Amino acid sequence: MTPVKTGSIAVLDFGGQYAHLLARRVRECGAYSVLCPPETPVGELRGAAGIILSGGPQSVYDPGSPRADPGIFELGVPMLGICYGHQWIAHVMGGRVRAGSVKEYGRVLLRRGGAACGARCGLLEGCPEEFIVWMSHGDAVTELPAGFLRIASSDHCAVAAMADEERRIYGVQFHPEVAHTERGQNILRNFVGLCSVSPWSSAHVLRDAEERVRAEAGGKSVFMLVSGGVDSTVAFALLNRVLGAERVQGLFIDTGLMRKGEVTAVQKSLMGLGYNNLHVEDASDEFFVVLAGVCDPEEKRRIIGETFLRVQRRVSERFMQVFANDRSTTCNLQPTPWLLGQGTIYPDTIETGGTTHADHIKMHHNRIPAIQAMIDAGCVIEPLKELYKDEVRQLGEELGLPRELVWRQPFPGPGLGVRILCDGSSPLTMTPILIPHSVLPIRSVGVQGDGRTYRHAVALFSDDPFRVCEEHWRLARDIPNRDARFNRVLLCTSHDHPQAIQCTPTFVTRETADLLREADTLVGDAVHRHRLSAAIWQFPVVLLPCGIRRGGRSIVLRPVASLEAMTAEAFHLPPPFLEEVTRSLLEISGIDMVFYDLTSKPPATIEWE
Ligand code: XMP
Repeated sequence: MTPVKTGSIAVLDFGGQYAHLLARRVRECGAYSVLCPPETPVGELRGAAGIILSGGPQSVYDPGSPRADPGIFELGVPMLGICYGHQWIAHVMGGRVRAGSVKEYGRVLLRRGGAACGARCGLLEGCPEEFIVWMSHGDAVTELPAGFLRIASSDHCAVAAMADEERRIYGVQFHPEVAHTERGQNILRNFVGLCSVSPWSSAHVLRDAEERVRAEAGGKSVFMLVSGGVDSTVAFALLNRVLGAERVQGLFIDTGLMRKGEVTAVQKSLMGLGYNNLHVEDASDEFFVVLAGVCDPEEKRRIIGETFLRVQRRVSERFMQVFANDRSTTCNLQPTPWLLGQGTIYPDTIETGGTTHADHIKMHHNRIPAIQAMIDAGCVIEPLKELYKDEVRQLGEELGLPRELVWRQPFPGPGLGVRILCDGSSPLTMTPILIPHSVLPIRSVGVQGDGRTYRHAVALFSDDPFRVCEEHWRLARDIPNRDARFNRVLLCTSHDHPQAIQCTPTFVTRETADLLREADTLVGDAVHRHRLSAAIWQFPVVLLPCGIRRGGRSIVLRPVASLEAMTAEAFHLPPPFLEEVTRSLLEISGIDMVFYDLTSKPPATIEWE
C-alpha cells in the first residue's frame, strides 16, 4: 500500500454500497479524497487530513467483520463514522451496539439536539432542527462511548448521530453522502471544513478520464461495446476523442431485449454525430435460445453477459478476417492487439460486489466472471468505471454530445431480460393491516443494510386506486422495515380489492419481450404526453408472471427519482396519468393487472431483478 497523499481525506471502505460515493461527495466539497481498504495500516494514513469510516453490510459482532487499525485514533485528525463506521467507533471506544435492534431502510425523520439529545455540534451546523435522512441498517448504537454526546435521534434510533467535540470524532447512523439525505452535503462540508485539506475541483473529471484512456490503451485499439445507453455512448465518444476513430470500433449488439425502435434510433443518432465506426449485429435469435427456460435473475444476467461476449468475439474475429483480406473495408479495427471497451460505471462494480467487503447485489452484465478474467488479464478498458451517472452526463456534455443523448433515461445492459420476471413462488400471508392487501407470488431483488435481498412484494388495494395517500407511502416504508419477508410495496391501480392471483409460466422469449415492449412504449408515450420526461429519472416497466385469468400477466410501473442510482425514491405519478395508463395497459391482450411500485431504494432496487 502507498501512503495517502498529504491533505487528502481517506475514506476507509468497510464494504458499504456508498463508500465510493462518499469519496466523490468529499471531492465535491473541494477536497481531494481517496478510498482505502479498512485495514490500511496507520503508517499509510499519516498524511490524511481527515478519516471517514464508511458503512458496510456486516455487524460489528460478525466474526471477521472489517476493522480499522485502532492507531487511527492517535492521529489526532477529524474522523467521521457512517452507519457501520459509526457503530464500529462506538464499539471500539467502549459504547454499545445492539445487533438487529432497529431496522430502518430509506427515509427517516432526524431530530437534532434538544434537551434529551445533549449538546449541539459543528457537524450539523446549518441544518434545521428536523430534516429527512436516508438510513439502511439493522444494528444500532445503544450506549455512547465515554466523551461522546448524542447530537441527533430518530423515532427508532436513539443515537442517530454522536460527537466527541474535543477529539473531533463524529458518528452518524444515516448516510449524508446520498442525494436523498437533505443537507447531507452540508454535513460533509462541515466535516471537510474541520480538516486541513488539499483542494480538488470538478474540472478534473474530463482531464482525469482522458489521462486514464491514454495510459490504459497504450498503443492498442479498442473494440467498444455500445448499448445505446448513456454510459457506453459517452465512453465511445471519449475513446474516439482520445484515440481517434482509426483505433476504435464500436459494436452494437441487438439482443432482441431493447426498447421499441431503440436500435435504429441509436444507430441514427451516432451516425448523425459523425461516428461511422459503429457496426450493428442482430443476435436476437441467439439470446432467446440461451434464455429459454431460465428463471433465476442472476442466472439470466450471467447468460446475457456471456452471450454478449460470445457475439463480440465472433464479430471481432470476422472483422479481423475481413481486414486482413481487404484493406479498403470500413472496419476500423487494426490487426494490432486490442482491448474490449465497456461503458461500466461505478455502481455496476459495487453492486456486483466489486470491493473486498461489499455484498453482491446484482451481477451486472459487464461484470460476469468471463469479463472479470479479461479485466484481470488487462484486456479491458473501462474509462468511466470510477464515475457516477451524473458525472458521466457532465462528461458527455463536455464532449459535445447532444442533450437528448446525454439526458436519456438509463437502460440496463441486460435490457428487458431483467424486466420479465419468470419465477413464480408459493403464496405467503402477512400479519393483518387495516388496508386490503395481498402478497404477490413473486420475489424481486432489494438492497437492505448494504446486503442483497430476494423477497416478496405486497400489493395494497384502495377504493380510489389512482390516488396514492399518505397511508400508502407510510406502509411502503414500514412493511419492509418491520417484516423481513418483504422488500417491495405496490399499489394495485387496476382493481380496488384483492383478487385470486395465479401464476402463468413465463420465460424471456420474443413473445414476452414483444408484450413488454408494447406496454413499455405505451407508458413511454404517456410520459411524453403528460410532460413528465424531465422529472422522472428512470421509468422501468416490468412484466410479472401472474394475473387473474388463465395465461394472464401483470405490469408494474416503477418510476423513480434519483441522482446517481445509488438511492432512489418512487416518483409520485399524477392520478390522471395513472388512470389513463392503467386503462390503456388493460386493453393489451394478456395483461390483466397493473401495479405502481411505491418502494424507495433501499429497501428495493430500481430494477426488479
Ligand atoms: P438497481 O436496479 O440496482 O440499478 O437499483 C441501478 C441502475 O443500474 C442500472 N442497471 C444496469 N445497468 N447493466 C447496466 O449497464 C446492468 O446489468 C444493470 N443492472 C441495473 C439500472 O437500470 C439503474 O439505472
